[in-house]
Amino acid sequence: MLTKINFISLFLSLIFLFSLSLAKTPPRPRAFLLPVTKDASTKQYVTTINQRTPLVRVKLTIDLGQRFLWVDCEKGYVSSSYKPVPCGSIPCKRSLSGACVESCVGPSSPGCNNNTCSHIPYNPFIRTSTGGELAQDVVSLQSTDGSNPRKYLSTNGVVFDCAPHSLLEGLAKGVKGILGLGNGYVGFPTQLGNAFSVPRKFAICLTSSTTSRGVIFFGDSPYVFLPGMDVSKRLVYTPLLKNPVSTSGSYFEGEPSTDYFIGVTSIKIHSIVVPINTTLLNITKDGKGGTKISTVEPYTKLETSIYNALTKAFVSALANVPMVKPVAPFKVCYNKTSLGSNQVGPGVPPIELVLRNKNATTYTSWFIWGANSMVTVNNDVVCFGFVDGGVEFEPASIVIGTHQIEDNLLQFDIANKRLGFTSSLLFDEITCANFNFTTKA
Ligand SMILES: *[C@@H]1O[C@H](CO)[C@@H](O)[C@H](O)[C@H]1NC(C)=O
Ligand SMILES: *[C@@H]1O[C@H](CO)[C@@H](O)[C@H](O)[C@H]1NC(C)=O
Ligand SMILES: *[C@@H]1O[C@H](CO)[C@@H](O)[C@H](O)[C@H]1NC(C)=O
Ligand SMILES: *[C@@H]1O[C@H](CO)[C@@H](O)[C@H](O)[C@H]1NC(C)=O
Ligand SMILES: *[C@@H]1O[C@H](CO)[C@@H](O)[C@H](O)[C@H]1NC(C)=O
Ligand SMILES: *[C@@H]1O[C@H](CO)[C@@H](O)[C@H](O)[C@H]1NC(C)=O
Repeated sequence: MLTKINFISLFLSLIFLFSLSLAKTPPRPRAFLLPVTKDASTKQYVTTINQRTPLVRVKLTIDLGQRFLWVDCEKGYVSSSYKPVPCGSIPCKRSLSGACVESCVGPSSPGCNNNTCSHIPYNPFIRTSTGGELAQDVVSLQSTDGSNPRKYLSTNGVVFDCAPHSLLEGLAKGVKGILGLGNGYVGFPTQLGNAFSVPRKFAICLTSSTTSRGVIFFGDSPYVFLPGMDVSKRLVYTPLLKNPVSTSGSYFEGEPSTDYFIGVTSIKIHSIVVPINTTLLNITKDGKGGTKISTVEPYTKLETSIYNALTKAFVSALANVPMVKPVAPFKVCYNKTSLGSNQVGPGVPPIELVLRNKNATTYTSWFIWGANSMVTVNNDVVCFGFVDGGVEFEPASIVIGTHQIEDNLLQFDIANKRLGFTSSLLFDEITCANFNFTTKA
């Protein structure tokens, strides 16, 4: 009898121990990742997330500065966990929406519900905005230890906006919306940070090749690339600056910009300052000017007077190299052979962006080397890869485009209001395609 009781109590305590170990929270992931590919025909950077219930893979174009994720809800959105965001609710207020759809005509469906918070999805490629129902749904992402992908984890309640099918015009083939990584409460990085208690920071590493994958890390470093280098060790920092006025195609009164602005104070070639009107480099009270980073522009766009000054300085630094017939949209091209090359691309002087430091009296420099300043347009010819943005092309004087950030790692540290950058990883014989995508158990 006694033995039997003991046996039962042993059994009970085993159950107790077992449930204790189950109750123990699993080790929190330090970061998540998304693979990123460059679409050959549009040059857009695309990724895939898992969303909805049951989960489906949704292909998205990345827009670094856009305020939120938006997807086509009109065609093929099926999900049992779809939840419209009610007018006046906390996520609605935090999205800074200024609109409410009290009554939607038609049967209730994703994108059409009564008393729903409404926001503005924007397609920067066709410069078009629409209205759209704000909603929440499940998102599942792959975690990472910084070296390899690890298991998928889900969170519900990721806020996104619904767009009509027509807003997909101009996006890469198969893409169903835009992944906005903007600096705001409903931006994807902040939402992931809050959902998974990972730091509100993310790092992007874009490949120059259309046949290999780059990576975006959400959360903390290490960011390890083969053959085993944690490139976060190379990061140097400059403050992220606030722009008080939205730089989106359309916006609600009072919405600040969700773009990432940095403080370029001057541009140098061979340590010589390029003569530009530095007033253009500051962000005005009405949100104009300054320097932002974009994953939507393929080549850095400069306000006309800056473009002219930089081009002139670059050409005179290469005065002894003959130019060849330019290939549009570029105006300055050279025979590849006459430039020669080195580890970081064609043999041209680097362009130095002198950036503000937290310490107002000191500066850090971001060097743009040949692989990032020159664009190969055919077998023989490479061109100076900057374009003239006109005098009032959009509310930023310098828009750093994707060609200039490929094979560099940029860390957008929202929590600490700073940008970390590595300059070219090619110095270490690493490209952004060197992340090891083999999943570790
Ligand atoms: C919204 O409410 C109106 C009036 O009550 C109703 O006729 C309509 O069907 C509702 N629409 C949806 C999408 O539920
Ligand atoms: C510099 O740019 C500002 C803003 O566009 C303009 O008001 C000012 O006149 C410019 N200064 C010079 C010297 O061109
Ligand atoms: C730009 O802003 C910085 C920092 O606020 C300031 O020190 C500088 O004088 C401004 N430059 C111009 C040309 O307005
Ligand atoms: C570039 O230089 C090479 C070698 O000198 C020459 O064969 C080729 O024709 C040149 N191409 C152009 C477009 O000038
Ligand atoms: C900031 O500047 C001050 C004075 O110019 C200097 O004493 C201090 O060491 C600097 N701090 C950093 C972190 O560079
Ligand atoms: C990539 O990671 C996997 C899993 O850890 C490992 O087995 C493999 O050797 C790694 N690949 C390289 C090229 O190091």
